[in-house]
Amino acid sequence: MKQLPIGVFDSGVGGVTVLKRLLEVLPGEDYIYFGDTLRNPYGDRSSEEIKKFTGQIINFMKEKKVKALVIACNTICATINKEEYDFIFFDVLEAGAQSAVDATKNKKVGVIATKRTIESNSYQKKITEIDRDIEVYQQACPELAPLVEKGLYSSPVAYEAANRCLEGLKYIDIDTLVLGCTHYPLLTPIIEKIMGENVKIVDPAIKLSYDVKNYLLREDLINPRDKGKMEFYVSGSKDNFTKTAEMLLERKISEVFVVDIEKY
Ligand code: DGL
Repeated sequence: MKQLPIGVFDSGVGGVTVLKRLLEVLPGEDYIYFGDTLRNPYGDRSSEEIKKFTGQIINFMKEKKVKALVIACNTICATINKEEYDFIFFDVLEAGAQSAVDATKNKKVGVIATKRTIESNSYQKKITEIDRDIEVYQQACPELAPLVEKGLYSSPVAYEAANRCLEGLKYIDIDTLVLGCTHYPLLTPIIEKIMGENVKIVDPAIKLSYDVKNYLLREDLINPRDKGKMEFYVSGSKDNFTKTAEMLLERKISEVFVVDIEKY
């Protein structure tokens, strides 16, 4: 069981920002990554579509015999009911909500995410469940994930789009901003520049990676090797995916496999 891989999935390349954090704390594990490059962005999809896609990805991951599954997509976490699945999940949104509570001093937190995540109100609910005195200011940024998918995360277009999206939040006295979409850590330099140094930027994947590590330690499931291997799968185009993933992980990826996810 210790030798089995950890599954990580997202609508596209965004979840690689989560994989990067996992590799920092669990370098000896093997990872299977799936990015749904054919069907993203998920942020504008209906909940029925997202539930169907998630079911297919879970079937694919089961076939790969993963020992744990990391949902590296806030939009999925905001949509599905985890209780309906017989699997151990790690949920990036729950980790993000707890990280925001831990980070804020003035109890004013901003959240940026996809349209679906914001409309679900999941961050607001989870943060105030932990501390009901926290005020949560949410903003959907539908333009950002598609720009990251195209590899345009450091372009002037991305700066303009982020600036438009953060317009409202800039003038509220928040001290913490949650990157509530796993594509957004690629935009951190731009977001920091726009928000200024007084706003702490929270990447939920940092806490999530420690949650996974603690679980594996508790269950005695840590792979004892020094360095594991990774396999990458996408449902559609792989060019931008490969470039961005290589940049993030600072290594060459020998092969990205295309899988017909509709078959699952
Ligand atoms: N990366 C995803 C998230 O964390 C979704 C991006 C999208 O496909 O819209 O929400």
